[in-house]
Amino acid sequence: MENIKSYVLQHKDRFINELIELLKIPSVSADASYAQDVIDTSEAVKISLEKAGCDFVEICDTPGYPIVYGEKIIDPTLPTVLVYGHYDVQPADPMELWTSPPFEPVIKKTDIHPEGAIFARGACDDKGQMYMHVKALEYMVQSNTLPCNVKFMIEGEEEVGSKSLSWFVERNQEKLKNDVILISDTGMISNQQPSITTGLRGLSYVEVEVTGPNRDLHSGLYGGAVANPINVLAKMIASLHDEDNHITIPGFYDNVQELSLEERAEMAKAPFNLENYKKALDLYDVYGEKGYVTNERNAIRPTLDVNGIWGGYTGEGAKTVIASKAFAKISMRLVPNQDWEQITELFTKHFISIAPAGVAVKVKPHHGGQGYVTPTDSIGYKAANMAYTETFGVPAIPVRSGGSIPIVALFEKELKSKTILMGFGLDSDAIHSPNEHFGIFNYLKGIETIPLFYKYFVELSK
Ligand code: BES
Ligand code: MN
Ligand code: MN
Repeated sequence: MENIKSYVLQHKDRFINELIELLKIPSVSADASYAQDVIDTSEAVKISLEKAGCDFVEICDTPGYPIVYGEKIIDPTLPTVLVYGHYDVQPADPMELWTSPPFEPVIKKTDIHPEGAIFARGACDDKGQMYMHVKALEYMVQSNTLPCNVKFMIEGEEEVGSKSLSWFVERNQEKLKNDVILISDTGMISNQQPSITTGLRGLSYVEVEVTGPNRDLHSGLYGGAVANPINVLAKMIASLHDEDNHITIPGFYDNVQELSLEERAEMAKAPFNLENYKKALDLYDVYGEKGYVTNERNAIRPTLDVNGIWGGYTGEGAKTVIASKAFAKISMRLVPNQDWEQITELFTKHFISIAPAGVAVKVKPHHGGQGYVTPTDSIGYKAANMAYTETFGVPAIPVRSGGSIPIVALFEKELKSKTILMGFGLDSDAIHSPNEHFGIFNYLKGIETIPLFYKYFVELSK
């Protein structure tokens, strides 16, 4: 497909400018003050799908943010690829750490992206990666090379748990029928070494509240005589890991799928440099569960992390006070076979059981989802690998990721199809962090690689 290369070269500036326009709309799903922007973004995605050549596009209302559905059915007897992506983005804060405003995209060069990267919230996660699929469709339609049917389902609530998408998928099984699901919402090892994500972790996200006295108290008059909810919460949280950094919740590891030594040896073959890893994060050393290396700790092992903790006085100066309440948000990343609802229950039971007398504890479950693993011998995986091999000159390496896209496990359950995770981001692209960016190289390589996936998938399906 030499043509795709020249098409990308010829239309490169327009592809970049169109993405920049999309990135200007602050579609932050977590913050209700951006609600109109989220809705405006769904409109923009709809128009882009129409322009790219879908013959039917609609905005589907849900109890939450709309889902953009589009399709081009060329022959019902041919295979169908379902593309999933999300047009919502994470909140941009802390704003002051951005070197340019998060919703005013600019192209800047970096060490890893010498040809430039687009800096904006959502550049990589997931507007840029989702838009590669729109442009790949444009190419296939323009060049008359679309070899099969295609459906698009782009949602606006991924960053807040995809509640409406579950609702939508359960109600639209026939409409969403497909032979393979294709997603670009993950990463790859480096711009020289592509990889295909073969696993995602599950997630259980909870919020805890510890209540002591019925009001904030003078820390001199009452200090030492009543339980301080912040002290207690800190102690309770600390007790959730033992000295080997194993999680202490009874039953937590019961269903964890252990990898064989052979599988772990296979994983260790993926290029990884611990010194560079530490340097990139300004760390003296890494930290984690005993008995596992970094790439295992963040992919095949479950974790428990506090995401935020608050209570009492945090303003300027000092205020002598014992707070009435303390709070924390806690996420548990899960591995295949761990059931997120069961883990949420185990956490809740345990957390309440370790509360000392003198405080009351509440646990509020937020959202969650199951983990996912996919085999490397499926037609979809092989087609993706052939596509990467052609555009990068080297085969892709299968890699299990630590991130979560809970909807992937639900797709398998409801739609009975496998998902291929063709990600083009890099870990250094700072998704969810200040200064998120997406390499121009990665964006264009994605557009170049995707049509090859279609081609090989159809060929291998015959
Ligand atoms: N695209 C990410 C997930 C991801 C990134 C997976 C990189 C693998 C590699 C997605 O948008 C995301 O942020 N997911 C959330 C979970 C969701 C339920 C809020 C996550 O992983 O924290
Ligand atoms: Mn994402
Ligand atoms: Mn995300």
